[in-house]
Amino acid sequence: MATAPLMLYGAAGYSLGLAAERLQAAGISFIIGGRTESKVKAKAAALGVSYRIFSADDEPAAIDEALSGLKLFVNGAGPFHNTCEQFMDACIRKGVHYTDISAELNSLNTAITRDAAAKEAGVMLIPSACSGMEVMLDCIGGLLLQKAQNPVRLEHTMNINGPVSRGTVGTIRGFKPEAVKRVGGELVPHPGEEPHEVDFRDGRGPLPRFPSNDPQIIGLWRALGVPNISTYCVKTGGGFPTEELESVPEGPSENERKATPYHLAFKITSSDGSITNAVAHTANGYDLTAMGTVEAAKAILGDAVKPGFQTPFSAWGGDYYKVFSGTTIEEY
Ligand SMILES: NC(=O)c1ccc[n+]([C@@H]2O[C@H](COP(=O)([O-])OP(=O)(O)OC[C@H]3O[C@@H](n4cnc5c(N)ncnc54)[C@H](OP(=O)(O)O)[C@@H]3O)[C@@H](O)[C@H]2O)c1
Repeated sequence: MATAPLMLYGAAGYSLGLAAERLQAAGISFIIGGRTESKVKAKAAALGVSYRIFSADDEPAAIDEALSGLKLFVNGAGPFHNTCEQFMDACIRKGVHYTDISAELNSLNTAITRDAAAKEAGVMLIPSACSGMEVMLDCIGGLLLQKAQNPVRLEHTMNINGPVSRGTVGTIRGFKPEAVKRVGGELVPHPGEEPHEVDFRDGRGPLPRFPSNDPQIIGLWRALGVPNISTYCVKTGGGFPTEELESVPEGPSENERKATPYHLAFKITSSDGSITNAVAHTANGYDLTAMGTVEAAKAILGDAVKPGFQTPFSAWGGDYYKVFSGTTIEEY
């Protein structure tokens, strides 16, 4: 089996497994990587691709060897605070671009601490670029901020709709960082503010929201200097599973994903107090992650690269969200 310049690491799991199918449908070659040989070998055989077995806990030289010949490494092994440092460092040493499917601040903070080294190596570190929802929050939020007169505050809410994957549940259970928001340029605890509900203007009415830690608290602050950013989440279509992790299904079925589109709400406040609101309606988040992986691969393999730490907005501009066809936006 031939090698390819793209590796999906963790493709034996649910989310990059969906991405692998979409990459093949798009005619983009890749190999897969992972730590559990039996699962990775079976997945590689099912896909008809090559595989490499290695772990984030291996010696650096072994990880370097596993990254040989690559142009782009896609990390699907979350929670990402366990893996992103080792893999970003190896990518910098080997001259390989790095992206992942995370929505964790850790991944961004790790990339920021390696910004200078990545620039020197000509490597782009662009965490979260395969997470379609994070691409949209970043790009649509950035576009709305660019359009507003002297914006001083961004608030956004993501509606996670329908079942979540076992990997997502494991990450949520095992990794509970305190929610933070940006106030006056500083990160402070984020207990939530009024209003505690948000309306996505799709007929469901106001829905309860809770504070989250989305990457734009870092990314859009760095890109556009907006000093106040708060992010929220709404969960609908069932709560987060409470049963034993092993009993949680691997991830939503195709029919479940089709039945549970995701939604976004944005509120921008300008220095004169004027407000711009917007809502967006889009595909299920797991389909978006698969689509996001295909689009990030096309962009980076096609040399749409800015070395150093980047976000989708800083690397590719606000209009990049349009790669997700079928997304509708209403400003009001
Ligand atoms: N932001 C987003 O939009 C978004 C979307 C989907 C998923 N996610 C996140 O992505 C992660 C994966 O989700 P998933 O649904 O694909 O989970 P999954 O089905 O459990 O797959 C995770 C894959 O990563 C591997 N892995 C996990 N920890 C590892 C480590 N420390 N070293 C090496 N490999 C490791 C697993 O390998 P083993 O089988 O060997 O454990 C498995 O192949 C989760 O953290 C989830 O929250 C984010």
